[in-house]
Amino acid sequence: MRDAVKVGPRLYLRRLTEEDASTLAEASHLEDETGLHEDGRIPMSVLSFEAWIRGLDASSTVFAISRRGDGGCIGTASIRNIDRVNGTAETGSGLLRREDRGKGLGTEAKQLLLEFAFGELGLHVLSSTVFEGNVRSARALRKQGYRLAGRLTANVLAAGGVIGDTLVFDITRGDWEHARQEARPAEPSGHDGAGLAGPDDQASG
Ligand SMILES: CC(C)(COP(=O)(O)OP(=O)(O)OC[C@H]1O[C@@H](n2cnc3c(N)ncnc32)[C@H](O)[C@@H]1OP(=O)(O)O)[C@@H](O)C(=O)NCCC(=O)NCCS
Repeated sequence: MRDAVKVGPRLYLRRLTEEDASTLAEASHLEDETGLHEDGRIPMSVLSFEAWIRGLDASSTVFAISRRGDGGCIGTASIRNIDRVNGTAETGSGLLRREDRGKGLGTEAKQLLLEFAFGELGLHVLSSTVFEGNVRSARALRKQGYRLAGRLTANVLAAGGVIGDTLVFDITRGDWEHARQEARPAEPSGHDGAGLAGPDDQASG
C-alpha cells in the first residue's frame, strides 16, 4: 500500500497528490449524477485539479481513497476549514464512479477519516453539509454516526432550476467514541476497533 495513512478492510487513505489530478479530471467529465451537490456540475481540467492540490494548506487535509492492493484513486475524503483553536472542521467525501457508490465503500472511507480527524488531529466536532436531494449521502452520514444539526433554506439551485435546502450534519468526538465502543466486539481482541489494520500494516507499502 503506497503511503498509507489509515487502513481499513477494503480501502486505505493516502495523501492526495498532483499525480491524482488526471483521475479526478476524467471523473469530473464522466460524472452523470450531477444533481447531488454543488460540485460536479462543471467538468474541471487536469491543470485546475493540479493547482487545487498544490494550493492546499494546513487548513485542509485531503486524502485519496485507494483500494487495498491498488494504489489508484477511487475517490477523495477531506477535512476542510480546520480550526485548531475550537477543534472544528468540515468533512466531505466522494467516490468517483457510480458503480462504486452504495456498497459501503464511502462509509468505510469516512470511518478512516473520522479516526484521523478525532485521533491524529485531535478535533472536537465535525460538520458536513448535504444537498437535501442527495438522499444517499444523507443516509450514509447518519449511518456513519452524524446527526442532523440543522437546515439552510433555499440556498442550492438544483437540477431543473429547483431551489433546494442544504442539510447540516455534525458528529462530536463523544458521539464517535460512543459508536466505536458500541461496535467493539464482546471478547477483548487487543485491537483498536473500527475494523482497522494494525500499525505494522499501516506502515507497509
Ligand atoms: C456519498 C457517498 C460518498 C456515500 O458513500 P457510499 O459508499 O455510496 O455509501 P454507503 O453505501 O455506505 O451508504 C449509502 C446508504 O444510502 C442508501 N442508498 C444507496 N443508494 C441510494 C439511493 N439511490 N437513494 C437513497 N438511498 C440510497 C444505501 O442503502 C445506504 O444506506 P443503508 O446502508 O442504511 O442501507 C457516495 O455515494 C458518493 O460518492 N456519492 C456521489 C458524490 C456525493 O454525493 N458526495 C457527497 C456530497 S455531500
